[in-house]
Amino acid sequence: MDQPPIPISKPNITAADIETVVETLNSGWIVQGPQVDRFERMWSEFTNIPNCAAVTSCTSGLSLAIQALAIKPGDEVIVPAFTWVATANAVQLAGAKVVFCDISPETFNLDLGSLREKISARTKAIMVVHLFGLSADMTAIKDLTKNRNIKIIEDAACGFGAFFNGHHVGALGDISVFSFHPRKAITTGEGGMVCSNDEDLIRQVKAMRDHGSHISDKTRHDSSKPYQLADHEVLGSNARMTDIQAALGCSQMRRANQILDHRREIAQFYSSDLQAVSWLKLPLVLDDRFIHGYQSYVCMVREHSTCHEDLSTRIDLINKQHILRNQLMEFLQKNLISTRPGTHSITTLSFFKNLYKLKSEDFIGAFEAHNCSISLPIYSGMHREEVHLVTKLIKGFAV
Ligand SMILES: Cc1ncc(COP(=O)(O)O)c(C=O)c1O
Repeated sequence: MDQPPIPISKPNITAADIETVVETLNSGWIVQGPQVDRFERMWSEFTNIPNCAAVTSCTSGLSLAIQALAIKPGDEVIVPAFTWVATANAVQLAGAKVVFCDISPETFNLDLGSLREKISARTKAIMVVHLFGLSADMTAIKDLTKNRNIKIIEDAACGFGAFFNGHHVGALGDISVFSFHPRKAITTGEGGMVCSNDEDLIRQVKAMRDHGSHISDKTRHDSSKPYQLADHEVLGSNARMTDIQAALGCSQMRRANQILDHRREIAQFYSSDLQAVSWLKLPLVLDDRFIHGYQSYVCMVREHSTCHEDLSTRIDLINKQHILRNQLMEFLQKNLISTRPGTHSITTLSFFKNLYKLKSEDFIGAFEAHNCSISLPIYSGMHREEVHLVTKLIKGFAV
């Protein structure tokens, strides 16, 4: 093979990004400070969510969101069965009970029928994940929770550039958290952003990320009263983003629309090249209420529709399609093209499976997505020819 390998994803770091980071390194202030303030303001402006707090990761942000909403042991929190394990870990670490809900293998988001069944008198919150950059149906979810005092936590780790009904995701629940891991469109290496329309919630998160103090290190440092120590009014820890990371985030946000437009263009190339491949189901955008952010471009290997079959026939079909999916991934890997399963079904992971005695067949949508999804390469700077090479190989793969 003389073509260079095509990775699943690649962080988009420009000379301007490097220069901005170096400026911060030389500035004498590298922990949470002015760059973090700026990054929060830029994020708020882009998403139109008024209150934002930068943190060390989406995972730490989810934990802070749960703490800010006073979710405690004995409370139930509904979590989709098909999502990165971080979503469930944050709930479990707070001592609350994780109640798993099935997903739709069409959208990879919460299945509304399953969600309706899982809501109980003990449900305190729903973790709504906008998986791979497609918003969940927030209208339907809010209808289900109406008058029930159930909080909506949006796990918007993959949600940058995803819109629902004209709103950026993260703006419609009670609190939301984004990720800046390098597989996301905007990266700070590691990092997260907690957002809310509720000013008080984010004030609490800002204190909790800094050991419960409402006065930041920088404010104390700049004060004319050097003897003044901060009070620590609530329980907290250290989830502070550094100014080094935030400088990178600010630099990337200056070209946010360009980054998103490019991802959407790549997705369009994939969709037009692959539409004739009958055994591959392409990412769905249900209707014009949804704008996809394409954090990932995730397809399903699906020779036959499985939805209307009885459970055991459906499992047989999924198992067959799973073999085919893996053969396709191996074939692409041999041709130097990286792919990954979309993500995992938590029902298959030992810790949660054993703790809650989960059976995969009880979450059939998640089981199908776990076994048959394939995420294709997508990143800023990916060329049309590279997309074409991937699609040519897929079209030539003999089913
Ligand atoms: C749905 C979802 N939630 C949470 C996370 C955790 O994000 P982080 O790595 O920033 O902690 C991820 C990471 O990919 C994710 O995909």
